[in-house]
Amino acid sequence: MSGVFITFEGGDGSGKTTQILRLASALREVGCEPLLLREPGGTVVGEGVRDILLDPRHEGLDPVAETLLFAASRAQLSATVIKPALDAGRVVICDRYADSTVAYQGYGRGLDLDTVRGVNAWATRGLVPDCTILLDVDPAEGIAAATPAEADRLEREEIAFHARIRAGYLQMAQAEPERWTVIKRDRADVVWAALVAALAPVLERAGIRLEA
Ligand code: TYD
Repeated sequence: MSGVFITFEGGDGSGKTTQILRLASALREVGCEPLLLREPGGTVVGEGVRDILLDPRHEGLDPVAETLLFAASRAQLSATVIKPALDAGRVVICDRYADSTVAYQGYGRGLDLDTVRGVNAWATRGLVPDCTILLDVDPAEGIAAATPAEADRLEREEIAFHARIRAGYLQMAQAEPERWTVIKRDRADVVWAALVAALAPVLERAGIRLEA
């Protein structure tokens, strides 16, 4: 038996959380209890790594060190939580996954893309999502949506960094259209309708039918 692995990607302030919570409650309504995870984090080790990564005091963090910390959190999560849950037939929804590292550390920080992809493949033991939703937003709007006073270390990066990330995401989605669905920023109910349409085929394969 094999479950369904759905990931959400997008820039900071793209509204992922709202849509993930709505998806989770819609799944529960049809009798499916999804496993909700976030990256970095989702395990005791991963939450510790998350604290290191998001701490504004760690401003000088080397990009390679940063990449490996994200990968370490992901390796722990995919081996000990995601893989076993999928083997048990569950629907796993992850707020960010390996594609975030390609977008942020690869396109954003300028690290070699193939090296980052290689690190990802190693960290995840090749576990790739069935479906990835990109919530696409203009970085200027997305960053404005995040409260400046609460901005974490990555949200404080300049707009150009976030513009590279957005362009990178769009390229990744274009290169692998069978896995990715791009949904533009819009009213929450419009985004929701697009999300249901995108997920319907993959959920149906697992016998789950969402009500729009
Ligand atoms: P988080 O508060 O979870 O942001 P969001 O709500 O936007 O997902 O912080 C995660 C931050 O880490 C976010 O700025 C994206 C960044 N990130 C990377 O740079 N690389 C990665 O591999 C991952 C998973 C996240």
